[in-house]
Amino acid sequence: MPELKGTKGFQYLEGSRFDRLSIEKRQRPAIAEVETFKHYPHSGKIPLPRSWSLAEEHLPSLLQHRRSLRKYSTEPVSLEHLAFLLWASQGITGQAGRYLFRAAPSAGALYPVETYISVHSIEGLTAGLYHFDAEHFALDHLTEQDAAEAVAQACLDQKFLAQAAVVFLWTGVFRRAMSKYGDRGLRYILFDAGHICQNVLLAAETIGCGGCPIGAFYDNELNHLLQIDGEEESILYAASVGKKILAGS
Ligand SMILES: Cc1cc2nc3c(=O)[nH]c(=O)nc-3n(C[C@H](O)[C@H](O)[C@H](O)COP(=O)(O)O)c2cc1C
Repeated sequence: MPELKGTKGFQYLEGSRFDRLSIEKRQRPAIAEVETFKHYPHSGKIPLPRSWSLAEEHLPSLLQHRRSLRKYSTEPVSLEHLAFLLWASQGITGQAGRYLFRAAPSAGALYPVETYISVHSIEGLTAGLYHFDAEHFALDHLTEQDAAEAVAQACLDQKFLAQAAVVFLWTGVFRRAMSKYGDRGLRYILFDAGHICQNVLLAAETIGCGGCPIGAFYDNELNHLLQIDGEEESILYAASVGKKILAGS
């Protein structure tokens, strides 16, 4: 077993540190840029409703009551509520010049994280894999087959995932942040994923749902399901969401 300092993680942190001397000489990395929004011109596009109303929930109560939830009601989640969760993840909430700001913060407003969903039980949506098109507030329909079982298997066979109404899958498009920040950009990409996931988990609390963040998965199996190469873009994080089972039901 490598001691802490011998790990790749430690070496990465060392190699991506800022200090007062080196930051002065810092140059833009020799990594080509890539566009901020991912487009699927050949897939069916499903516009998302904006008809949800924001619940009058107080943050301290949401924080107090959020728990990782691994058992869900079989009741489907409405499309409005799914749209609300997607908006909470990466919905566009503001603009300044050419920058479109989103619900979760992002270093340099570069938004290197993409949101995908594996739909299992959402009213009015065919089960399958979708990509969230934040720019147009729509879903790109990627596959028509229910991927819930395959996603659960790829997540170290955590069976409860197949019972969730939806599983969010977050990937990193590394070039978006690393073309500006180099190695250090990887830290920011991971932070972004954390912000986005927490937004979704807290938003889920406001609509009678709960969820569980997922970091245990076979990366290449999820990449394969999402048809991404694992190099330019790779899975980072995931979270299940489903309706809570009400006491007495
Ligand atoms: C980065 C990360 C990865 C996680 N991965 C999993 C996972 O793969 N499976 C799971 O059941 N829970 C997972 N969890 C949930 C944790 O087990 C849970 O957050 C922890 O036990 C604390 O409980 P709480 O979320 O209810 O406060 C993960 C949490 C985080 C933050």
